[in-house]
Parts: sequence; C-alpha cells; structure tokens
Amino acid sequence: MAEAKAFVTGHPIAHSRSPKIHGYWLKTYGIDGSYQAIDVAPADFAAFLKSLGEDGYRGGNVTIPHKEAAFAGVARRDHAADEIGAVNTLWFEDGVLWGGNTDGYGFAANLDQYAPGWAANGPAVVLGAGGASRAVIHALKERGIKDVRIVNRTLARAEELSRHFGPGVSAYSAGAVGELLADAGLLINTTALGMHGDATLSADPAGLPDHAIVTDIVYVPLETPLLAAARARGLKTVDGLGMLLHQAVPGFERWFGRKPEVKPELRRMIVADIEGH
Ligand code: ATR
Repeated sequence: MAEAKAFVTGHPIAHSRSPKIHGYWLKTYGIDGSYQAIDVAPADFAAFLKSLGEDGYRGGNVTIPHKEAAFAGVARRDHAADEIGAVNTLWFEDGVLWGGNTDGYGFAANLDQYAPGWAANGPAVVLGAGGASRAVIHALKERGIKDVRIVNRTLARAEELSRHFGPGVSAYSAGAVGELLADAGLLINTTALGMHGDATLSADPAGLPDHAIVTDIVYVPLETPLLAAARARGLKTVDGLGMLLHQAVPGFERWFGRKPEVKPELRRMIVADIEGH
C-alpha cells in the first residue's frame, strides 16, 4: 500500500509544531507515513482543498488563517466544527472531504490528564471571545458546565458568543471580572493577555476560591503570568501545551489508523523546542 500522507497548512506555517508531533508518533509506532507542512496563501486555499484527493492525501490539519475557509470549503462537517465555526482537521470518508474541529477535544483532554474531575468545578470564567474561546466554550458545554461566563475587552464579541451558545453562557466586560471570580471553579485564559504587556483585560487569581483550577491556552511561555499568579496563590494550574498535543490525536488516528498517546516523552520534546534547545 502507498505511504499514508497528511499535512498541516497555514500561512505562514514554518513555525508550526505539528510536524514534530505527528513525526514523533509516526516514528514511535513504526508507521509508513508522512506529515508535511504546506504553506498556502489565502488566495490559493480553495484550489488547494480541491487538489487534495488527487494528490493522495488522507487529510491534514488547518491552521491560521485558513480555519474559516476550510469550514466553508469542505463537503461535510462534524458537530464540533459546526458549533465552533472553524475547521482544523480534514479527512476523506468514501471519497468525501470532511472537516472537523478538535480544539475543544484537546482542551478537555488536557484537563482530563492534569486535573481529573475538573468538569465538576463550575462556574467557569473564560477570558476572551475569539476563535479559541469558541472551542473552549464548546468543550465546557459538552462536559456539562452549566454556568460559563465570558469576559472580553470588547463586550459585543462576548455577547455574540453568548447568543451563539445559548442558555448558561453569559457575557461581561472586563470590569466585571473580580466579582465573577469570587465563586468560580475554573478560570480559562484564551487571549494573548500578558504576552505583550498591553493587556486591557486582567484577572487576579487571588480572588478565586481555594478549589479553583486555572488554565491558559497560551503555551509560550509555558508558565504564563496568569498561571504564575495562580500557582503563587496555591491554586491548581494546567498549562496550554497539552491542548496542542491532544488536539492532534483525532487527526492522527483518522489518517494513520492508530490512536496515539500523549506521553511525557512527547511533551519533553516539544518543551525543548519551545525553550529553544
Ligand atoms: P484567537 O483565534 O486566538 O482566539 P482572536 O479571534 O483574534 O484570536 O481573539 C483574540 C482575543 O484576545 C479576543 O478576545 C481579544 O479581545 P477583543 O475581542 O476585545 O479584541 C483578546 N485580546 C487580544 N489582545 C488583547 C489585549 N491586549 N487585551 C485584552 N484582550 C485582548
């Protein structure tokens, strides 16, 4: 049988860590397959999607800025992609191109690994209302969290998400965050907050109850200022790297026929890459 081929496409794509993750699993499991990074400019993306079958790909990952174009361009979508409004994983079923979204799965699987039982810890406060926030809110709802509070610099974007996800998902502007944390069991940052030092939205984990869990989807640096403050406060923290690793699992299984494991060795390899070793 021909080598199984998959890819990640984005623009730019050179810094994607996905080839390292999938390459590691291909090698570990001795699978005759390849996973390559392909830079596709936005103007060429539709043609790229059309050519996939002829080029012999089993499927691939899609990242910035193509997730919405992939959502629009596939023949069929899974439930998560429809809820999140973006596609990050492509595959063929009976010759038909499917699009799915595994970001919410990755988010939940990371917490399952490092903070088992986390889903009993509502209410949840979500900082940010962009694409990443949609994936997180989808996962929170799927896992049964009944009170999700979105806080965003731009209130209108949080309100739009609240309408989209319906009852149990509410929207607030930055000023409300202190009050919202007082009885929250989960705090999730989905913004670049703290990365550039120009944040107009901040959350002080000091205001959370003792049992709260704090997680950040940003993984460079691994310990973000929010996670450092939460740790100093004695709270359980989970960094964002596991979300990146776990979101890769469903795609690998579809293309290469084996569900890969997220083990410490893989994490160590990606940490070394982040730290520039
Ligand atoms: P992503 O797909 O990574 O979520 P995005 O859709 O651009 O990216 O969303 C970025 C999120 O980070 C938004 O919630 C944004 O707030 P606005 O909706 O008000 O723009 C938030 N964000 C980015 N920079 C920020 C800053 N300096 N302070 C506060 N929030 C910020």
